[in-house]
Amino acid sequence: MMIKPEPPFTRLVASLPATVPFTGPETLERRSGIPFTLRLGANESAWGPSPRAIAAMQRAAAEVAWYGDPENYDLRAAVAQMHGVGLANVMVGSGIDDLIGWIVRAFIEPGQAVVAALGAYPTVAFHVDGFGGQLVRVPYRDDRNDLAALAQAAREHRARLVYVANPDNPTGTWLTAAALRGFVDQLPDDCLFILDEAYIEYAPPEAAPPVDVRDPRVLRLRTFSKAYGMAGARVGYVLGAAGIVGAFEKIRLHFGVNRMAQAGALAALADTAFLAQVVAATAEGRADYAALAADLGLPALPSATNFVAIDVGSAERAAHIVDALAARGVFIRMPGAPPINRCIRVTVGLPAQRAAFAALFREVWAGLRD
Ligand SMILES: Cc1ncc(COP(=O)(O)O)c(C=O)c1O
Repeated sequence: MMIKPEPPFTRLVASLPATVPFTGPETLERRSGIPFTLRLGANESAWGPSPRAIAAMQRAAAEVAWYGDPENYDLRAAVAQMHGVGLANVMVGSGIDDLIGWIVRAFIEPGQAVVAALGAYPTVAFHVDGFGGQLVRVPYRDDRNDLAALAQAAREHRARLVYVANPDNPTGTWLTAAALRGFVDQLPDDCLFILDEAYIEYAPPEAAPPVDVRDPRVLRLRTFSKAYGMAGARVGYVLGAAGIVGAFEKIRLHFGVNRMAQAGALAALADTAFLAQVVAATAEGRADYAALAADLGLPALPSATNFVAIDVGSAERAAHIVDALAARGVFIRMPGAPPINRCIRVTVGLPAQRAAFAALFREVWAGLRD
């Protein structure tokens, strides 16, 4: 048979790099043949979902022959009530990763600029590239999002979108609500501010601006992946002005959030006691990591998340530690860009997991010092 040429891709897809935003721990295990016994690299919750969420998902599993509610009505209604906003101000998607894709698709024409920190959460670059936008990267300053420089870059490049995660990944640091409010006023009029609050449940109250869905310049992104312990269920939501949120109806995948995820998230929202326990236990874990770092003479970045970035002095050292720990069955990550790639990033585990990590990290660190 004659071999036929492959059908051509669109120019945009042909131009994209053949990279994925993340290499999952399963891929790393398959590559190395070494299973991870400590999974502390993806900022998943060591405490899992609320038992009420698990029960709700089990019940929903028995009904999985049916499509989920395409309007995600019950979950949206509960979210709207929790934030004191209308149903029209909430849209549910398959995690923040999905929501960022909607926003870039809805607002970015090919060539238009999006501003974010250099080394910010990688899915932003993935979607900006994927829809033909131009990502303008602004270095972190003092290991924080540099709001003045981000706003200046937005004005200079006439950016249509600016992205900030607060608290931030991969640094763990956070900015105050007052600083964020001032920031929005410095952006060009037609620039939308994407405020990714994946870790907001862990943060002090002064990190979260009051939700004001009358302001069409801001979209807030929330997820059930972190403190609610449901990363594998893929569910999150956007809060914003009705005109903008409603437009996502045109592009979202209407059956994209499955029955179990909807039911689990709804039950998780109601279990506020469980959430409070997770947040408190996570704070203890952060303190453990900070104490471990201090004991080794290493700075730990202040964190309001479920992970801690430990400054090991250089990107080479960080990469060595990530590899050496992987060889010992420990999955952690390191930030991808300077200057924060001098850190390793370790997710808070259960107390026994933290102790196991501490022992192996001490061993690897001692090996480096020899
Ligand atoms: C800042 C930030 N945003 C979004 C996500 C992903 O959220 P989701 O699981 O809802 O897609 C993560 C996960 O690590 C994150 O760190």
